[in-house]
Amino acid sequence: MISIKALAESPGLTSIPPAYAFTHNPNDQPVSDDPEDSIPIVDFSLLTSGTPDQRSRTIHHLGKACQDWGFFMVINHGVPESLTKAMTEACGEFFNLTEEEKREFGGKHVLDSIRCGTSFNASVDEVLFWRDFLKVFVHPQFHSPTKPAAFSKRTRELARELLKGISTSLGLGECYIEKALNLESGLQIVAANLYPPCPEPELAMGMPPHSDHGLLTLLVQNGISGLQVQHQSKWVNVNSIPNAFVVNVGDHMEIMSNGKYRSVVHRAFVNEKATRISIATVYGPSLDTVVGPAPELVHRETNPPAYTEMKYKEYLQLQQSNQLDGKSCLDHVRISPA
Ligand code: OGA
Ligand code: NI
Repeated sequence: MISIKALAESPGLTSIPPAYAFTHNPNDQPVSDDPEDSIPIVDFSLLTSGTPDQRSRTIHHLGKACQDWGFFMVINHGVPESLTKAMTEACGEFFNLTEEEKREFGGKHVLDSIRCGTSFNASVDEVLFWRDFLKVFVHPQFHSPTKPAAFSKRTRELARELLKGISTSLGLGECYIEKALNLESGLQIVAANLYPPCPEPELAMGMPPHSDHGLLTLLVQNGISGLQVQHQSKWVNVNSIPNAFVVNVGDHMEIMSNGKYRSVVHRAFVNEKATRISIATVYGPSLDTVVGPAPELVHRETNPPAYTEMKYKEYLQLQQSNQLDGKSCLDHVRISPA
């Protein structure tokens, strides 16, 4: 199938092909216009090098951000801006390869370690998304069509520190999540998204409303906005702060925390003028880990387990092989209250 990049660059394109046009849901939630509606900001430097008091306040703030929003912005994280820039450029170069050259990576299987394509699952998507993607598994084994291993390593360290803070905020030990979910051999996927300019942005969609499968996702973007987060029955625009990471809670954090920290539905829209590139780095358990609610967070009478156990690998296959549809994948493991 033709990439969205090639399609968007077709000479004289003034409208989108019908296969990309959505009938928008008339009951869709409104976009918030309240400037107070913005995702919390976490100062990472206070988590790692603040005073004990600053550290405990930051952990509390981190826990509240996970609970109230499921999304937050991380500043002062120490990942050099030059590294993020180099990574974004490398991904941009990948998308610039010819259709022929990219075909080599057009993997068929969702567990292939390097896979590129268009839309989400072009073979099952009813309407196609205005998006090309490249997904690369960078941990426990590093793969790459190019080479910037440093970005994966630094963002992994950042994610693991955040997970320590989150683990503490749940009243579990700092290393609980790391040990229980085998993060030593945890899965890390770098997923680059390309959203070229679209002649009819109000009819198309970059990525549909969905939640992410892992524990945490870290996202950087090339200065062009497009991400919206669902919060209190409204869509909230996430404007990009230069060099900040947008972090969100994934389905496996929801399962592990027995619903205390819930994954949050988000989507990406497209625009008429600028090419947007975002790079999402997803951290999850090791593929063979069977994940269920942490026994420490479950109480037989007052807080029974709300999710059944499933191997992460099976969950990933289920989510990636179907249409992306809100939090529908999570329904497979959700236990409905008796
Ligand atoms: C994702 C995602 C949003 C964006 O890759 O899972 O939600 O803004 N991306 O590109
Ligand atoms: Ni996402």
